[in-house]
Formats: sequence, structure tokens, C-alpha cells
Amino acid sequence: MTRAKVGVLISGRGSNMAALIAASKAADCPYEIALVVSNVPDAAGLATAADNGIAQFSASHKGMKRADFDALVDGALRDAGVEYVALAGYMRLLSPEFVGRWSGRMVNIHPSLLPLYKGLDTHQRAIDAGDTKAGCTVHLVTEELDGGPVLAQAEVPILPGDTADTLAARILIEEHKLYPRALADLVRG
Ligand code: GRF
Repeated sequence: MTRAKVGVLISGRGSNMAALIAASKAADCPYEIALVVSNVPDAAGLATAADNGIAQFSASHKGMKRADFDALVDGALRDAGVEYVALAGYMRLLSPEFVGRWSGRMVNIHPSLLPLYKGLDTHQRAIDAGDTKAGCTVHLVTEELDGGPVLAQAEVPILPGDTADTLAARILIEEHKLYPRALADLVRG
């Protein structure tokens, strides 16, 4: 089986990246993780990627124009033969050029039931709104932040006494299951 090459972009701990790596080890997984990219050179996720023998590219975006930094990342992805991009806690807005280049082949995971709570601080916002459920969404990336077509969602209850942290932990468990599955579905077409 030829497996699609995926590049994962991270900025931090990389637990979703780790879930994608773990899933890719299954014999019937339609993708492999060809490259992990970080815009934060000391991101914890890079060590996890290294432990798994995954090639890495890291460079700080600081002092660079957005389009120039994205072109650098794009070059690294091309050099690695990447065909699909998975954003996994990548805390950068993307240039229109980069989004256009990966149109239909770039996904993101967001910790809310989109279209609710785009952007940051999603867990607290869901609690503050008095919602009884929350969740996570995998979507295609378009130029609108967290606004692209939804590919898959998972729900969790919001329980009495939940804090942003307890809710985030409950959602994260679902993220780690949803993301590998949604990416596999996309790659299989
Ligand atoms: C996750 O909650 C993800 O949904 C959001 O950022 C967080 C990244 O966590 N986009 P991790 O780096 O994958 O552990």
C-alpha cells in the first residue's frame, strides 16, 4: 500500500501530533507522518517526534514576514514530499498563499463544536455560555480562521463544576481519537 505523506505543523506540546503518529503505525493506516514542522524551536512536541524517528523542520517565525515564513515551511514540506498538511496546535495565522497552495489538503483540529467558538479560549467561552455540551472539530483550512468545511466532530458533556481545564482534558481525549480518523477518511477520499 502506498501511504500518503502527511506533514504535521505544531507550536507546543504536540499531543494531537503524537496521536497521528501512533495511528500511522497501524498496518492499514493510509498515511505516514513524513515531517513535523514547528515554528517554536523548543516546542515539546519536537522531542516526541524525535523519539518516534520522524523528520523535523523547525524555525522561528520571529522577525520574518508571514508570507516569507510560510514559504520557508512550504519548501520544507515540498522537500519531504508532503501531500497533506495537518495543523495540530499550530499557533500561527497562515498567509493566503500557503492556504491556497494546500487547499483541500490541509486540515485543522479545533476544541469546540464549530461554528461555535472560533479562535482562542473556547473551553471557558462554552462554560460561560451555559452550554451543556462541547467538543472538537476537524475541518478543512480556508482563509477564514476556524471557518473551513467541517469534516468530523465529537461531542462531550459539560458537567457541573467543570473548569476550562477539566473540560479541555475531556475534549482532548476525543481529539486524539477524532483527528486520526478524520485524516484517514480525507486521505482515502
Ligand atoms: C488542541 O486542543 C487543539 O484542538 C488546539 O490546540 C491544542 C493543541 O494541543 N488546536 P496539542 O499540542 O495537540 O497537545
